[in-house]
Amino acid sequence: MTSLATKLVPEVVKNLIPYQSARRIGGKGHIWLNANELEQSERYGESESYNRYPDFLPHVIEKAYLEYSKDAVGGEALQCESLAVRGADEGIDLLIRTFCQPGHDQIIVCPPTYAMYEFCADSIAVNTVKVPLAEDFSLNVAAITPHLKDSKVLFLCSPNNPTGNVIPHEQIVALLEASKDSTLVVVDEAYIEFAPHTSVVNLIAEYPHLIVIRTLSKAFGLASIRVGFLLADKSVMDYVARLIPPYPIADPSALVAKKALQQEGLAAMRRQTDELVSIRNWFAEEVAGLAFVEKVYPSSTNFVLVKFGTDDCLYQYLLQKGIVTRNQAHDPRLARCVRISIGTRASMQETLDALKAYPFN
Ligand SMILES: Cc1ncc(COP(=O)(O)O)c(C=O)c1O
Repeated sequence: MTSLATKLVPEVVKNLIPYQSARRIGGKGHIWLNANELEQSERYGESESYNRYPDFLPHVIEKAYLEYSKDAVGGEALQCESLAVRGADEGIDLLIRTFCQPGHDQIIVCPPTYAMYEFCADSIAVNTVKVPLAEDFSLNVAAITPHLKDSKVLFLCSPNNPTGNVIPHEQIVALLEASKDSTLVVVDEAYIEFAPHTSVVNLIAEYPHLIVIRTLSKAFGLASIRVGFLLADKSVMDYVARLIPPYPIADPSALVAKKALQQEGLAAMRRQTDELVSIRNWFAEEVAGLAFVEKVYPSSTNFVLVKFGTDDCLYQYLLQKGIVTRNQAHDPRLARCVRISIGTRASMQETLDALKAYPFN
């Protein structure tokens, strides 16, 4: 049976032969003169040498990531593949470029949500249909459904940035059912470690048109190495992998990612996550008790969205105190809202003290 990915992928991508990098072609020998690398080079003070190109695909970390991903959803082997990308952002871009034709196709997003889906679509003249979240930031499934037949990709974000909430499992399943013959469904789980049991990665076995996006930038605390993952059925991955540039993950990044995905690294990440959640819950409760705070939205992430009851934007006030948060005022739905990442207890105490000193009357 023809997969949905095969039905949706544009002819140009279908006919694309992946770039044959020197590493991909490989070979056997003891003198390697096939990639125009320097055979010996200055080490620039580092103990490692970086003169050789990395693997054309970093299979070791991809396998380790699959192993890690199954833990949150019952521990059974996942029936999907994993592809390492340079951050979840590259994953979003790759998915749009693989399945959407400029000037022809469209994607669906549900704002307020992560802005990169629309940005990446805009950058190659792919149209974005917006189906806003309801007043309480829940997904409007009934309003999404009519757009499915004309859209190549539906982007969902769970837990969602910047609202912090999780999309209920039943809603994702309802959309997967409704989109089976028409639309790929992407669930961006960048913040999943803060609500691990809500992952839908195990649904890929039943719904091969589901793609899950992940990252090491959030709970793993490795934003600077730029490593993320796509988890998807082989039928999807076969096409996405054609577009990935040669040598996608730099060796120093792959080395750190490999350590992070070993037992010790995972245990450290889980400890760090527990600590962060406890700081977040304490901070959210304290902030919610301030007279000029209208609401602190429930969060399943490493940030909180705070709505202030004053016309003043607290973003500027905090900035004057040297505390940089994310102003959400550009979105009319998030007027008077500021998104505050959760840092160390000391940083959050200082932020709380600054808020308590706000001259409100
Ligand atoms: C929902 C969501 N997806 C993806 C990303 C990008 O992650 P990465 O650093 O892996 O590119 C972010 C970063 O803020 C995010 O909030």
